[in-house]
Amino acid sequence: MRACWICRVAMAEQSFSEYAARNAAPILEILRREFRSASSVIEIGSGTGQHAVAFAAALDHLRWQTSDLDENHAGICAWIESARLPNVEPPLSVDVLSASLEDESFDAAFSSNTAHIMGIEAVERMFALVGGALRAGGVFCLYGPFKTGGEFNSPSNADFDQGLKRRDPVMGIRDIEVLDEYAAASGLRRVRFYAVPSNNNVAVYLKTGDE
Ligand SMILES: C[S@@+](CC[C@H](N)C(=O)[O-])C[C@H]1O[C@@H](n2cnc3c(N)ncnc32)[C@H](O)[C@@H]1O
Repeated sequence: MRACWICRVAMAEQSFSEYAARNAAPILEILRREFRSASSVIEIGSGTGQHAVAFAAALDHLRWQTSDLDENHAGICAWIESARLPNVEPPLSVDVLSASLEDESFDAAFSSNTAHIMGIEAVERMFALVGGALRAGGVFCLYGPFKTGGEFNSPSNADFDQGLKRRDPVMGIRDIEVLDEYAAASGLRRVRFYAVPSNNNVAVYLKTGDE
C-alpha cells in the first residue's frame, strides 16, 4: 500500500459513522454483483473511510481508491492504516467542484450519501467527474435516499429532507430523474435501481461506449 503522508504526520482518531456501519451489508450485497467484473473503483466522498475498508476487504479483486475533501483525509487514513489491506489506496484530494480525474481511469465508481449533502451544482459535477473517469462499460453505484416522480418514498425521507434544508438550504433529497439527466450528459445511463433498507436506493449507471 502506498504510504499516506497524512497518516504519518497526523494520525487521526478513527471517526465512526453508525449509518455507514448499518448500511454496509446491504450495499455490499449489491456491489458484489455490480462490481464482479471490475478491478478498480474510485469512491467519491469516502467520509470516515469505513465503507472503503469494509468493501475492499470483502471484494479483494478490487483496488479501492478513496477520495474526499482534504478535511476528511486524516480520518480515512486512520481506517486504512488500522485495516492494513493491500487493496485500499489513500485518499485523493477530490472536491467535485474543482477536481479533475483526467489522468485516472477506473472501471467502477461508488458514492454513498453524497447527493443530498452536496449542492446540486456539485452533484452535477460529480456525474461529470465520474463519467470522465470511467472506462467504457464501467459502472457507477450511487447509494442514498432519492425522490422518484417528484415524490418521497416515505414520510421519514420527507422529514429528513426538511431537516437537511434547515441545516443548509443547498442540501436536499434529489429527484432521480434529474440525476439521470446529469448522468446522460456525461455518458452514463441508469440500468438498475435497487431498493435497500431504511428507504434508500442504489442507482446503478453504466458508462456507454460512444462517449
Ligand atoms: C454524509 S457524508 C457520507 C460519507 C460516506 N460516503 C458515508 O456514506 O458514510 C457526505 C460526504 O460527502 C463529501 N462531500 C461533500 N461535498 C463534497 C464535494 N464538493 N466534493 C467531494 N466530496 C464532498 C463530504 O466530505 C462527506 O464525506
